[in-house]
Amino acid sequence: MNICIILAAGEGTRMKSKNSKVLHKLINKPMVNYVLEASDSVNVEKKIIIAGRNKEDLTNLLEGENILIKEQKIGKDYPYGTGYAVSLVLNEIEDNDKVLILTGDTPLIKGETLEKFMDYHNSNNNTATVLTAEIEDPTGYGRIVKDTDGSLLKIVEHKDCNEEQLLIKEFNSGFMAINGDALKNSINKLDQDNTQGEMYLTDIFEIIREEGKKISTFLIDDVEEVYGINSKVQLSVAEEVLRKRINEKFMSEGVIMENPSNIFIEDSVIIGKDTEIRSGVRITGKTVIGENCLIYGDSLVDNSILEDNVVIKSSVIEDSYIGVGTDVGPFAHLRPKTKLEKKVHIGNFVEVKNANIGEGTKAGHLAYIGDADLGKNINIGCGAIFVNYDGKNKYRSIVKDGGFIGSNANIISPIIIEEEGFVAAGSTITRDVGKGDLSIERAEQRNIVGWVERKKERDSRKK
Ligand code: UD1
Ligand code: CA
Repeated sequence: MNICIILAAGEGTRMKSKNSKVLHKLINKPMVNYVLEASDSVNVEKKIIIAGRNKEDLTNLLEGENILIKEQKIGKDYPYGTGYAVSLVLNEIEDNDKVLILTGDTPLIKGETLEKFMDYHNSNNNTATVLTAEIEDPTGYGRIVKDTDGSLLKIVEHKDCNEEQLLIKEFNSGFMAINGDALKNSINKLDQDNTQGEMYLTDIFEIIREEGKKISTFLIDDVEEVYGINSKVQLSVAEEVLRKRINEKFMSEGVIMENPSNIFIEDSVIIGKDTEIRSGVRITGKTVIGENCLIYGDSLVDNSILEDNVVIKSSVIEDSYIGVGTDVGPFAHLRPKTKLEKKVHIGNFVEVKNANIGEGTKAGHLAYIGDADLGKNINIGCGAIFVNYDGKNKYRSIVKDGGFIGSNANIISPIIIEEEGFVAAGSTITRDVGKGDLSIERAEQRNIVGWVERKKERDSRKK
């Protein structure tokens, strides 16, 4: 059986945060989830996370998933270190298990790399394999110490290195594959005899070698994959890498991007060919976008469906559906449960919520359409408002095909406006409007001749 252990109990002090390090998010997803997803490539039958003070947060995050969360007590009464962490779950491991050990703070690792790593461990009949990389300045990392014949001798922590060992560029990524029996035997032999007084998991390599068993390194080319996050600067660096990976995947599938380093798209999103996304756009959640769309400005599209040929200009779209050829914005807000059919036009400063809007209907400027069903080819004038709330309850209105709502009209819901019903500008509508009727609600206009001149005379007498 393959078992994966993810170490996540560390204190993460360098993050300067009240929140657990491994729960910090990259592209809206907690760091530890990336590691878990990568481990899925390896056919793991049992997953164990070692949690520390973050046990409750991790339990909430991973609720419902088949992952065992084991608590490592942290404090001066307890030992500390990666070796101690793994020792807490030895009873979960059988002798013939293969154990993959990962760290929760390395989200850039790819599943395909872990797959190759495990294949290498198994096909070489290794007892323990460590995944390594090379870097010009490996400060802080454990060094890979090899014999003259190139075989692995041991791993020495930076703080325990002598001058010669400090020059070694190959370092321990923190990822290891170990056979169950060897892991159990060697962990019990660990001591805390080192500069940090910790139980180092890395020491098991030397112990296993001394027992005459085969240990080895697996060197990867792309050091980026083992980039560990200890600070918020590193968090942003890693997020940039992930953003690049996601955006390049979209471009390779035919999406056009302007200034992709400033485009933020979650990997859950689907986007069709020749859709163009310009600088500053964020697309999140279960959003599906068709072909030949254009999205620009500081638009945010969350959990929405956009059919082909949709244009979104500097707008916020949440939990909405947008039909073929419809355009939205600039500065529009589609709130949840908005459904726009084909060729709808939603223009400047228009807000729509929980409303269905039929084909060809237009609301070009400054309108609020909330809790309403609008038919086809309706014109909603500038400043029209669906007054859906009386302070206690919400009400729905219906406007049927071909209707016309004049500028600055208030539709006091619930109202039904039948086909081609025409509401005059400035009217406050409190009763239904019949088919083809004009509804007008305004005081009659009075023009008072010469009033301004007379006012000026009155004012000058007062002085
Ligand atoms: C560790 C390795 C080092 C390697 C580096 C790679 C050891 C002794 N050192 O050093 O060789 O180059 O990772 O990033 O293993 N953790 C626990 N419980 C503990 C201590 C740590 O769960 O008691 C977890 C942390 O949450 C973290 C991981 O183990 O996810 C690594 O711990 P960290 O303190 O970051 O180890 P490093 O000093 O970076
Ligand atoms: Ca680390």
